[in-house]
Amino acid sequence: MPLTNRSTLTQFLIEERRRFPSASGDFNALILDVAIACKAIARAVAFGELGGAMGNHATESGGSVNVQGETQKKLDVLSNEVFIRRTDWAGNLAGMASEEMDLPYQIPARYPRGKYLLVFDPLDGSSNIDVNMTVGSIFSVLRGPDTGADVTEADFLQPGAKQVAAGYALYGPTTMLVLTVGDGVNGFTLDPNLGEFMLTHPHIQVPADTQEFAINASNSRFWESPVKRYVDECLAGKTGPRGKDFNMRWIASMVAEAHRILMRGGVFMYPRDTKDPAKPGRLRLLYEANPIGMIIEQAGGRASTGEKPMLEVQPTALHQRIGLVFGSKNEVERIERYHTEPGRHEMINPLFTERSLFRD
Ligand code: AHG
Ligand code: MN
Ligand code: MN
Repeated sequence: MPLTNRSTLTQFLIEERRRFPSASGDFNALILDVAIACKAIARAVAFGELGGAMGNHATESGGSVNVQGETQKKLDVLSNEVFIRRTDWAGNLAGMASEEMDLPYQIPARYPRGKYLLVFDPLDGSSNIDVNMTVGSIFSVLRGPDTGADVTEADFLQPGAKQVAAGYALYGPTTMLVLTVGDGVNGFTLDPNLGEFMLTHPHIQVPADTQEFAINASNSRFWESPVKRYVDECLAGKTGPRGKDFNMRWIASMVAEAHRILMRGGVFMYPRDTKDPAKPGRLRLLYEANPIGMIIEQAGGRASTGEKPMLEVQPTALHQRIGLVFGSKNEVERIERYHTEPGRHEMINPLFTERSLFRD
């Protein structure tokens, strides 16, 4: 192997920290522990069926369901445990919260407590795991109460703008860690020989314009009219009001879509819809929308509920769901604009226009 000049994640964090001479090093230690958790999950994912970790998580009383009412996969539960095991001992955390835990996790009494809160989705896109598609882990770091007391749900209910750091690991053809500490976005690729994350994608920027969008179109009958209008205009392509053709992608693994958008632009929508009035959106504010929102905005893109900046939303519950639109700035701003122009949407579904396939 030729000698590389690339920084390791450790070197990157130490060099970042030199800009803050008073920093204690707790934050860096936390991020490095999270990175170890991600490496461990990457291995579990890579072994697949050979590791016996595929399929649904089974308990004595049958399968298990998380607080969202979703069936837990074995790898959801394992990844959650890996995050806890690798981070709770070090004295950097006041507490944790996760998609796979109903209540906040208290740091055990035998360990010191620290000043940060770690919030995570241990395995995003896990419905894809059994078909060997890309999944990932998403995390957000907030400041905690720093009193040594047990954490409460209220401690976590901070707007995304207060995040100290956010990142994700992607378990795809290569394992990557993408991180922001509030000073741009950097991407690291796991070198399987060294077992280290190496800086391969410094200063990632999301292109402001795009011709690619991502949405689960099977929900289209439940969308609000501004979203219908936006998608219809994309589908109308060159001959429609946008005057250009669009391409569409849907992986059903938000972390993988976020990565594609960071790499080459695009817009992702899982908007609030009317499918289930009890669920204002599909994705979760604290451990999906906020960390991805911070990363996208730090890379020059935009993240929104469709109506307001995601990072300004005041959370009201740990597992709160929310409509999420993010990606190339000009497209997200367009979608927000459509939300302020009520009633202007005429259904111009290209499948039903003149010369179309389904015209009656
Ligand atoms: P999770 O696996 O953590 O529950 O999240 C899955 C999410 C997200 O990754 C993806 O964008 C979305 O669910 C897919 O939803 P649909 O199945 O409705 O397309
Ligand atoms: Mn998820
Ligand atoms: Mn998950």
